Amino acid sequence: MPGKGLEDIIAAETSVSDIDGKLGRLFYVGIDIHELADNSTFEEIVYLLHNVELPNKAQLDEITEQLTNERDLDTFVEGLMPTMVQQTSPMSMLRTTVSAMSAHDPDGWDQSERANYRKAIRMIARFPTVIAWYDRLRNKEEVVKPNPKLSQAGNLLWMLQGREPDEEIARILDVCLVLHADHTMNASTFAARVAASTLADIHSATTAAIATLKGPLHGGANEAVMKTLLEIGDPAKVAEAVKVKLAAKEKIMGFGHRVYKTEDPRATHLRVLSKRMGEMAGDTKWYEMSRTMEQVVMDEKGLYPNVDFYAASVYYAMGIPVDLFTPIFAASRVAGWTAHIREQYADNRLIRPESAYVGPPHRSYVPIDQRG
Ligand code: COA
Repeated sequence: MPGKGLEDIIAAETSVSDIDGKLGRLFYVGIDIHELADNSTFEEIVYLLHNVELPNKAQLDEITEQLTNERDLDTFVEGLMPTMVQQTSPMSMLRTTVSAMSAHDPDGWDQSERANYRKAIRMIARFPTVIAWYDRLRNKEEVVKPNPKLSQAGNLLWMLQGREPDEEIARILDVCLVLHADHTMNASTFAARVAASTLADIHSATTAAIATLKGPLHGGANEAVMKTLLEIGDPAKVAEAVKVKLAAKEKIMGFGHRVYKTEDPRATHLRVLSKRMGEMAGDTKWYEMSRTMEQVVMDEKGLYPNVDFYAASVYYAMGIPVDLFTPIFAASRVAGWTAHIREQYADNRLIRPESAYVGPPHRSYVPIDQRG
């Protein structure tokens, strides 16, 4: 019987990404994440994950243009936004709007390989737009139209903040998107592949993934990290606060990982970006508190930070509202989800595992008047 968390079970073959948990290495289509973080862009990663090859110049220009041209929402989704703002959290809004995007997708119910590729590009292009619409509307600010001159990362900041982002900050967000784009059989990707394996459409499978990312044990951890830092509030109180939490058997969000038994290679980059963002924002307090927390959790529990830990202070220093951290994770991971969904369709078999029955022994139905 496998463990309750299906650890050590290989659930699919994939060409999209690969992890070496013992050595702390991550590869997208065979290329080390460190090289990608230093040299690549989110647009290039979208191409890489979907085409299993790095793009040449013409291919990169083409996918960049496709992503830029597909940023506007359709009128149906635009019409839903005011209600979403009043009634739902950002992740629930994202789950609902992505589901709603299927209604007016120009490719309709065409489930051909090429139509699914176009649908994937459209979803990837529009995640930042719905996130920014939601935030602008809830703050009673005017919605900012996408800026075709900006990258996916730069445009997200532009639409959220209503001003052209500093180039270095846009590049820092771009690297964050590169780092979050895929991660083998994590819970949301698995959910996406299970839904796709029933031959449900790509919007449905992506919706399942968003729903799964929402939980605090998965994507929701980045928000929880920031809430912990804010709650502690004072660098001098970090060590004591962490020890109290651990003594109460509370989990410290942003630490530990099912697969990595050493440092998460994404955290290595995010730590540097957190420091730099803090310096640029003129306040390194959250970075310094994070460093102390990292030290205490290592000393007390021997646990390493995961991707969510330093992402929290990076986004906070960028001025991104805390409840948008997980939607921004999704705005990157949608590249990986849709690549996995298309991979699943290309060589599909219904994913339907067994269960081990542990209820009462098999028995007869008792009519209601004879029950105690
Ligand atoms: N804080 C404190 N203790 C932790 C911990 C954390 N963040 N993560 C794991 N542990 C401890 C567990 O309590 C357990 O200790 P025990 O053996 O004394 O009971 C041990 O480490 C193993 O943890 P377990 O929960 O079985 O590991 P897992 O592989 O099931 O969990 C996570 C992996 C990611 C779910 C888990 O580390 C966690 O909940 N982390 C916090 C949430 C988070 O950051 N999620 C984002 C993941 S990218």
